[in-house]
Amino acid sequence: MKKIILALAVLALPALSVASGGEGYHLLTAPIDSHSKASLQRGAKLFVNYCMGCHSLEHQRYNRMARDIGLTDEQVKENLIFTGAKVGDTMKNAMRKSEAKGWFGVVPPDLTLIARARGVDYLYTYLLTFYEDPSRPFGVNNAAFPNAGMPHVLWELQGMQKPVYEMHKNAEGHEVETLTGFELVKSGSMSPPQFKESMADLVNFLSYVGEPIKLERQRIGVWVILFLALAFVVFYLLKKEYWKDVH
Ligand code: HEC
Repeated sequence: MKKIILALAVLALPALSVASGGEGYHLLTAPIDSHSKASLQRGAKLFVNYCMGCHSLEHQRYNRMARDIGLTDEQVKENLIFTGAKVGDTMKNAMRKSEAKGWFGVVPPDLTLIARARGVDYLYTYLLTFYEDPSRPFGVNNAAFPNAGMPHVLWELQGMQKPVYEMHKNAEGHEVETLTGFELVKSGSMSPPQFKESMADLVNFLSYVGEPIKLERQRIGVWVILFLALAFVVFYLLKKEYWKDVH
């Protein structure tokens, strides 16, 4: 009998999740400009101030970052290193994994490759959609990553927002609740447009960290195109020269 009940419960699971969860929140498009050094620098500053307490960038070195985003080693030492690390070190943090597990239930992941793993639109949406949810351990939930174990670490900047739901019928005719947007219930130190811009900078930085070679590749690409254009002209003139007497 127990087995039958269990089997029925398992069969009913998908229906339950449809009834409660509705559809996922749509991803926002991250307005990032990978050529803007100013944006990358602002993103780096946000990262070391607000994220590095919990997240590391184990595959990125401070001095490599300095060079790529247009800072000197001195500027990085003075403004971006708080952990006592040397400028040639990788961007590790001091948090012990075992302690982190106790605090959050999960170890905050290293973020070096997160932009490649999840995509920039996901990251942008994730950072903008923390919302008040008293049923969660840290009092917040997230639209892009439901039941995420991360607190809303940027609430002082963004303020706190409440979810706005709409009821509608899904494909099977069930009434479902869908998260359609947010309402700011407590303002932060930044206005909503300022906060969005800052999150674009932060995502821009994470995207750079995931693929530092990209900036270099684009620079090289320009020279390659110029070379090909020049080569085309030379070959064309040569061809004319060779065929001159044939016609
Ligand atoms: C107080 C600690 C803490 C701070 C500070 C923090 N995070 Fe997290 N973060 C976490 C934890 C814990 C998780 C794991 C959540 C989970 O898997 O449920 C996480 C997960 C993530 C993820 C992964 C989401 C996914 O889909 O797997 C991203 C991206 C992220 N954090 C970005 C950031 C950024 C950007 C900042 C700085 C603005 C930041 N975090 C600051 C604790 C923190």
